[in-house]
Amino acid sequence: MKAFRFEDRIALENLRLVELDVPRPGPREILVRMRAAAMNQRDVLIAQGRYGNFAAPLVPLSDGAGEVVEVGPAVTRFGKGDRVIPTYVPDWIAGPVREGVGARRLGGPNPGTLRELMAVHEEAAVRAPSNLGWLEAATLPIAAVTAWQVLFTDVGIGPGDVIAVQGTGGVALFVVQLARAAGAKAVVLLRSGARAARVEEAGAAVVDTSREPAWESRLLALTNGRGVDLFVDVVGGNGVNRAVAATRVGGTVALVGFVGDTTASIDLPAAIRRVVSFRTVSGGSRATFEALVRGIEANDVHPIIDTVVPFTKAPEAFVKLASGSPFGKVVIDFDG
Ligand SMILES: NC(=O)c1ccc[n+]([C@@H]2O[C@H](COP(=O)([O-])OP(=O)(O)OC[C@H]3O[C@@H](n4cnc5c(N)ncnc54)[C@H](OP(=O)(O)O)[C@@H]3O)[C@@H](O)[C@H]2O)c1
Repeated sequence: MKAFRFEDRIALENLRLVELDVPRPGPREILVRMRAAAMNQRDVLIAQGRYGNFAAPLVPLSDGAGEVVEVGPAVTRFGKGDRVIPTYVPDWIAGPVREGVGARRLGGPNPGTLRELMAVHEEAAVRAPSNLGWLEAATLPIAAVTAWQVLFTDVGIGPGDVIAVQGTGGVALFVVQLARAAGAKAVVLLRSGARAARVEEAGAAVVDTSREPAWESRLLALTNGRGVDLFVDVVGGNGVNRAVAATRVGGTVALVGFVGDTTASIDLPAAIRRVVSFRTVSGGSRATFEALVRGIEANDVHPIIDTVVPFTKAPEAFVKLASGSPFGKVVIDFDG
């Protein structure tokens, strides 16, 4: 079977198409023929040597979806022909995160999804949403699970709540779509007006920060001076202080990403005055993923895909995400 693998050392120029042995499923494993995989910032950072310190050879990517083609003799959760998605954090089944539960992750240090066949423990997969095709289903494990974890598992947003997020990447657009499905209102901070119409079409209000640089004042104005209930910060850096200023007293700032800056200097008196809670997040459990699947089906949510790259050209997907600022997800089609 074919796979892409970082050979010798982890670097994009060492990502090679290789022929590997067909895996045999163990007693409680399912053999999954992958139909699509999807990119996240994490994959780009790993390929650039800026995330983790993983050993080569390594099959990259954490996200993907496929069909069960064989089951081990003790498997009870799935059968042949089922459409499944391997979980990004295979040992986190349910409940709050615990010490050690996140040590094994797909795409580093564990082998990832960029291979034609994967043997997956039956506890480390969920059924794919019935309303999604392969390309859409492949986008869920990191970005959508993280969005659901923040919105519903950690914070518990509800109808009428206002949620702010920046940009048009994978996490941000899932925040928009899932918040809307819950009857909440998303406001997206954009770096320019170019994508405003598409974001509005996805169901969010827009603040164009190139025209309204004092965006925290704009968020306060949009909420009658109260502030947003939840600010999902995917950019990082000292902008977190402006997020605090735009969040209501007793609200939450979720520290999710760092596409802008990996460190922040927090104005503690300002944060304490507003009694703002800070949450960090690192993916989600299988139970969170299963709740997401039900939510996607019930509300017929369809992930937003920017680019589809055929399997044999998978390295182009890394380049696209690293340099292209896509609107939504970059997906790899194993049938393309
Ligand atoms: N903690 C977790 O569990 C978790 C899970 C998933 C992702 N993350 C992190 O969350 C962040 C977003 O992930 P993603 O998968 O959504 O990435 P993505 O799909 O690449 O989207 C990132 C978006 O951020 C915007 N952006 C990029 N650089 C920016 C800058 N300097 N200032 C402001 N906006 C900028 C761009 O949108 P525009 O072009 O529209 O501005 C870009 O599309 C990353 O740092 C990722 O590592 C964390």
